[in-house]
Amino acid sequence: MPSTGIKKDLISVSDLGADLGSVITWASKLKTKEYNAQFAESLKSKSMAMIFEKSSTRTRVSFEVAMTQLGGHSLFLSPKDLQLGRGESVGDTACVLSRYVDIIMYRAFNHETMMELANNATVPVINALDNIEHPCQIIADLLTILEHKCTLKDINFVYMGDGNNVCNSLLLGAALVGMNMTAACPEGYLPDPEIMEKAKKLGEINECSIKVMQDPLAAVQSCDVIYTDVWVSMGDEGEQAERERIFQPFQINSGLVKAAKDDCMIMHCLPAHRGLEITDEVMDSKQSVVFDQAENRLHAQKAIILYLLGRLEV
Ligand code: CP
Ligand code: NVA
Repeated sequence: MPSTGIKKDLISVSDLGADLGSVITWASKLKTKEYNAQFAESLKSKSMAMIFEKSSTRTRVSFEVAMTQLGGHSLFLSPKDLQLGRGESVGDTACVLSRYVDIIMYRAFNHETMMELANNATVPVINALDNIEHPCQIIADLLTILEHKCTLKDINFVYMGDGNNVCNSLLLGAALVGMNMTAACPEGYLPDPEIMEKAKKLGEINECSIKVMQDPLAAVQSCDVIYTDVWVSMGDEGEQAERERIFQPFQINSGLVKAAKDDCMIMHCLPAHRGLEITDEVMDSKQSVVFDQAENRLHAQKAIILYLLGRLEV
């Protein structure tokens, strides 16, 4: 449906600015029966188009279930079924979908096409992962840390591995909520430099340290959380062998975890490649909260949809 006011998009975590904390709080409230009942019919007759250029388990299922639980409806759209796959432009697709649906979720290979969709849509657009960011994941991650550590301030958070889309969004999210973050990444696989600079500036404002290191063991000394993601993101499959060799020292194994605080929490956005970026022993340990993170995607998606549709007081 054509928008009547200035629409909000979620392309980067930084789009939320000071509202990030409120969105996390709402995600937490939406875990309760009371708030679920309050919002159960709130999106009656509302529809969400979901375009997936890449595979997904968590994002697809959590957004679909979120729309159902909020009383709305979602449409899974694959580019190979849409006319997009036969050459219709992303911009024209955005204009057309905006005449039918109330919100569009897009998982794209390229940030440029994400922006083309957002710039042409007259309804809110959610970035459900592109090559630069994965903002929805980070809202669930911050909620998970808050639940387990009761605070986001004074937490020493270490991201280990590829300075990819998840790492970029984590840097911005950490800087916005005032959580210390170190990205431990090998040379040549550092986070996006513009995002790094932006995160450092936000970190100064919110009084937290945002930095990059190359030594995995030094990075985890006295850390509260170790987070990792795949070494080979969707789209990078051609570099698999080289990446597996370069990232080996950044594997989260029991030796690395021993160097951190005793109660250090282990996180992974999933899907995990067990035996590569994380060992079975660590992934299945008591310190691992990876399935809490996955569950929190559902609660975070509800908060994101309601926020973008102007249904939440922030
Ligand atoms: N973490 C995440 O986005 O998972 P999916 O690729 O399964 O959606
Ligand atoms: N960095 C990964 C995240 C998957 C959820 C990828 O882009 O494939």
